[in-house]
Amino acid sequence: ADPNRDKQIEAHELAAKLYHYLLMNTEQGRSALSYLRDRGMSDRLIDQFSIGYAPESWDTLARFLESRQFALPLMEKGGLLSAKQDGSGYVDRFRGRVMFPIWNRDGKVIAFAGRALGDGQPKYLNSPESPLFTKSRTLYNFNNARPDIRKRRKVVLFEGYMDVIKSWSAGVHNGIATMGTALTDEHAVILSRSAEEVIICYDGDNAGRAAAMKAIPMFEKAGMTVSVAMLPGGMDPDETIDAYGPDAFLRDVMDHPVSAVKFKLIYSRKNHMLEEDEGLRKYLLEAARIIAEVPSAMEREVYMKELHREFEVSLDSLKQDVHAVRETMQ
Ligand code: CTP
Ligand code: MN
Ligand code: MN
Ligand code: MN
Ligand code: MN
Repeated sequence: ADPNRDKQIEAHELAAKLYHYLLMNTEQGRSALSYLRDRGMSDRLIDQFSIGYAPESWDTLARFLESRQFALPLMEKGGLLSAKQDGSGYVDRFRGRVMFPIWNRDGKVIAFAGRALGDGQPKYLNSPESPLFTKSRTLYNFNNARPDIRKRRKVVLFEGYMDVIKSWSAGVHNGIATMGTALTDEHAVILSRSAEEVIICYDGDNAGRAAAMKAIPMFEKAGMTVSVAMLPGGMDPDETIDAYGPDAFLRDVMDHPVSAVKFKLIYSRKNHMLEEDEGLRKYLLEAARIIAEVPSAMEREVYMKELHREFEVSLDSLKQDVHAVRETMQ
């Protein structure tokens, strides 16, 4: 055992308890608590995810850790404190933020994400990378979701913390998120050990769709079957649940993900001007390339028929083009 590491974990665990206490039981936490309630978070949900509040003061946590004999330079390395510029001591890294603890696979707190209460920047401030916390390997909520992921052999990947939490309250207990960074091959491999299937449920805006396009091949490389849940009009899961309710979210979004191929076709379509000949031509050629990657001949035919019905291209020429692309793939 590494004693520094144990101390870091102990400090993070205590900080999470302190932040949660300050949120739930003190005057200082009032505005943060009403912020969370306005966002539809029940006390039960706040409790389940150990959400807390880091007050505005410069040294609430620093004094707390000092009084418990934690070595402050070590706490700075773990990202709970920041060194003062003049070298005269340490201040709290997180101030005036709603605090989301990040757990490792044993359920121990190893980092935090702190959200500004309003439009403050940055919106989320995360703990820095440390020996305790590696973003490229950490998945938010994986410790809580793992039993359900293993049972269903299926995992749902969200973009944000709030998406994971709100979806959990809607009944999605196999949801996780990356730490504000892009998905890595390591994440995909970690998930592939617990599940065969992944549903990508990123935000329904351009950034979310582009990120889904990047994530698909990474999961496929890890041997997983990928589908994509489609969200209405630029919303994210958290907003969708607020706007339409948890039942509609489960029924209309979570229960009807589209296949990776279908998603690529939809994405390509959105990126071409179909009302112009040139745009339509480019879209059809790209669609042929997307369909060509489908291993099953039967499935390829289903997608080709859809294109044929929709765009007045003959099934014969589609088949020829798809076939030609496949020849180059061998
Ligand atoms: N993120 C981050 N730092 C930022 C903005 C975003 O780390 N300054 C990460 C967070 O993990 C966030 C995710 O990217 O959850 C998705 O970003 P976004 O969709 O902008 O935030 P939401 O999750 O929708 O946050 P909220 O609902 O609280 O506004
Ligand atoms: Mn509590
Ligand atoms: Mn987003
Ligand atoms: Mn979002
Ligand atoms: Mn959101």
